Amino acid sequence: MNFHTLKDLQLKGKRVLLRADLNVPAQRSKVTDTTRIDRLKPTIDYLRAAGAKVLILSHFGRPEGEQNPEMSLAFMLPTLEECWQTSVRFAPDCIGEKARQAAESLQDGEILLLENVRFHKGEKANDPAFIKELASLGDIYVNDAFSAAHRAHASTEGLARILPSAAGLLMEKELKALDAALENPQRPVAAITGGSKISSKLNVLNNLINKVDYLILGGGMANTFMNAKGINVGASLCEHDMAEEARTIMKNAGKHGCEIILPIDCVTVKELRIDAPHKIVPANEIPADEMAIDIGPQSINSISKKLQSCKTLLWNGPMGVFEIKPFDTGTNALAREAARLTKENGLVSVAGGGDTTAALENAGCSDQFTYISTAGGAFLEWLEGKTLPGIAALDPSNKKAA
Ligand code: 3PG
Repeated sequence: MNFHTLKDLQLKGKRVLLRADLNVPAQRSKVTDTTRIDRLKPTIDYLRAAGAKVLILSHFGRPEGEQNPEMSLAFMLPTLEECWQTSVRFAPDCIGEKARQAAESLQDGEILLLENVRFHKGEKANDPAFIKELASLGDIYVNDAFSAAHRAHASTEGLARILPSAAGLLMEKELKALDAALENPQRPVAAITGGSKISSKLNVLNNLINKVDYLILGGGMANTFMNAKGINVGASLCEHDMAEEARTIMKNAGKHGCEIILPIDCVTVKELRIDAPHKIVPANEIPADEMAIDIGPQSINSISKKLQSCKTLLWNGPMGVFEIKPFDTGTNALAREAARLTKENGLVSVAGGGDTTAALENAGCSDQFTYISTAGGAFLEWLEGKTLPGIAALDPSNKKAA
């Protein structure tokens, strides 16, 4: 990873096009989770203090190149102002005359939010003409949207190729945390991977077995692996047609010195609902008419012991159906143990992707890991070992390709 940071830039009086990810959870025009907004504050503060004029570019939803008032960014202005403790101006388009006028009237240290970049087809198409129009509004490009870096769009990739560019503070933090977790980790390193299906995470699993010492599986994915080993998983969520793939992963893991750890006991129910009657059974004794929906106490115990021997932990996905109580027990117990080890043993714990943030929040641990990524899809693509176009474009040596 080679990129400039904010420290490398002359910012005074410059118009900075800041790619943020304001694709935040919202309901009825109200932001319901400000995490992504809060995490942008250090970059906003830095740019303002350095005397830059800050022009924010972001998408919201997937308007597919059409103007869609329901996906306008305007509704979040009060939330941005409250979180960043400063006023934010708004331009009703991200290119054209209105955007130009708003950009030109900005004073040093002021912030302008430009309307949803995905209202233009050129964004997703990474269209050179659209990139040029965006670029004409600013002098410098700063990318602070790791969570959108898996998209090769105009505002995430194209701009970096034609403007002097750098990673923002949030992007820098994400990249450093991910590097410490997977590219250059202190060993032993464990990955906890949960979630329902292995079919959607085949590339993640294949990459992880190359890189980690222990791959701890939970959720529906673990059932697919148990089934592949000839264990009867009863009525559990299981991809029976993925048995061959699971066996290949287990064989390859052995070759790479990666130990795959499956549950040794499970919590099972006949039907899935809050407080459903449940029992704890050895993993190879799941009743034919019941489904495994969480890991059991022996699994919690032995996985916790394994974590105690590790220096690095990468976490993606819950261990069970954590949305339905009490079947969040396994996820909560391991999350709390990881939080304890982070505090007391210096475990480097990095989590991210999909349901993970919600699961760690439910466990009360969301501020106790070394780093929790703001990214969903981008985190998973990075776990797959893919080069993210938004990151690659920040590499100064790639500018020549523009
Ligand atoms: C996200 O929320 O994961 C990012 O903003 C990317 O959104 P997208 O999947 O619509 O590109």
